[in-house]
Amino acid sequence: LAGDEVLVVSNREPYIHSRSDKGIEVRRPASGLVTAVEPVMRACSGTWIAHGAGNADREVVDAHDRVRVPPKNPSYTLRRVWLTEQEEKGYYYGFANEGLWPLCHIAHVRPVFRSSDWDQYVEVNQRFADAVVAEARTEDPVVLVQDYHFALLPRMVREKLPRATIIMFWHIPWPNPESFGICPWREEILEGLLGNTLLGFHTPFHCKNFLETVDRYLETRIEHEASTISYGGDLTQVEPYPISIAWPEGPYPESIAESRASVRAELGLPRNLLMGIGVDRLDYTKGILERLQAVERMMELHPSMVGRFSFVQIAAPSRSSLEEYQALENRVRALAQRINLRFGQSGVNPIVLKVEHYDSDQVSRYYRAADVCMVTSLHDGMNLVAKEFIAARDDELGVLILSQFTGAARELHEALIINPYHIEQGADALYRALTMPEAEQRERMRSMRSLVRDFNVYRWAGRMLLDAARLRRRERISAK
Ligand code: G6P
Repeated sequence: LAGDEVLVVSNREPYIHSRSDKGIEVRRPASGLVTAVEPVMRACSGTWIAHGAGNADREVVDAHDRVRVPPKNPSYTLRRVWLTEQEEKGYYYGFANEGLWPLCHIAHVRPVFRSSDWDQYVEVNQRFADAVVAEARTEDPVVLVQDYHFALLPRMVREKLPRATIIMFWHIPWPNPESFGICPWREEILEGLLGNTLLGFHTPFHCKNFLETVDRYLETRIEHEASTISYGGDLTQVEPYPISIAWPEGPYPESIAESRASVRAELGLPRNLLMGIGVDRLDYTKGILERLQAVERMMELHPSMVGRFSFVQIAAPSRSSLEEYQALENRVRALAQRINLRFGQSGVNPIVLKVEHYDSDQVSRYYRAADVCMVTSLHDGMNLVAKEFIAARDDELGVLILSQFTGAARELHEALIINPYHIEQGADALYRALTMPEAEQRERMRSMRSLVRDFNVYRWAGRMLLDAARLRRRERISAK
């Protein structure tokens, strides 16, 4: 692909400009997608097309809605697409996040499908497809489409740029055919996705679910061995690509000992306190309530931990104009308060809840200050918090508790793997983590660190792009 034009499309932009009293500020959003794709984009330049969502986004773009990023050391172009309030409501909040998000996560939140949201979803997919076509300078660019916001876009782009290599990565799970089948527009979505040259999921299990879903609802030819689908003259290759992170470059501004002390001081906690950490968007798929319940149960079972342990939950507000998200925030706050009333002792609360956005440097200080990190998603495509925690621990200490329902659990076997719905099991794992001998922590951490270091996000992107290059060559040969 060297020398080829690369275009990325995602809903969420990698840099958000917003205006405050201090002037225009830039921040990186809390998004697994952005965490993974941004370093790759920095390395290969090109153009990233995304929704301009910041209140100062318009102030920094040129006449073509473009801005060079990263702000400090620009290496690629961010092309912003503006959405009306109505489009954002129907396409992003409505169809993408009240429909497809719960549909694919099976987290027992019922998906909502409104025809008016669907109309906006179709409309916005077309607008982004038009932006891709407008940005493309060649007839055969490589288009990297990200996530469930753009299921229809691959076919739309294919119609205008038949020679494009369209690669899509679906960052969330793909459910089984029965579950997916309740979507009133299931055929349209599948047809849209089959406009891709290559379609990637996190795990072989999600690929299998996808092939079975296509098999159930469309007339296609599926080669299970080769993992290809032919539909209406197009061929789509379906493959697993477990996503990852960029290995931190270091050195860290603070040593582990300094972070342990400074984070505890910042939170007004005693120096020698045992500390757990959770970092998530405030989202019902993350199992935050179950996690806090596990902390409570652990204290019930082990009163010696009362006053000796605090669990710090950083919860970045997310999609908060949706009712389900507001309700979750209320429930999480109420539960934290109840547990603190019950087990708070001499200035030490068992739960420290921060519903705010922390930037990645701050988060990494918290990872380094903690004794245990809890990832308890009820369902998660991969979960990059698990990998970030491991990467931050250059002291090779700290324990990861990890939900079996994450993609990450298929790779990180040395974590303490739990079923987050099983509160008792979560409580036991937490106690085990807090009392684990250092030698065992080190052994587990070492092996997980070497895995994440090797299978980093450049490998993820590299494997996908290599496969795409192979398919591209094949297409060129067969077109001759
Ligand atoms: C998940 C999705 C991403 C999304 C992120 C943050 O990781 O897969 O596409 O960007 O959540 O959610 P938001 O709605 O704020 O972009």
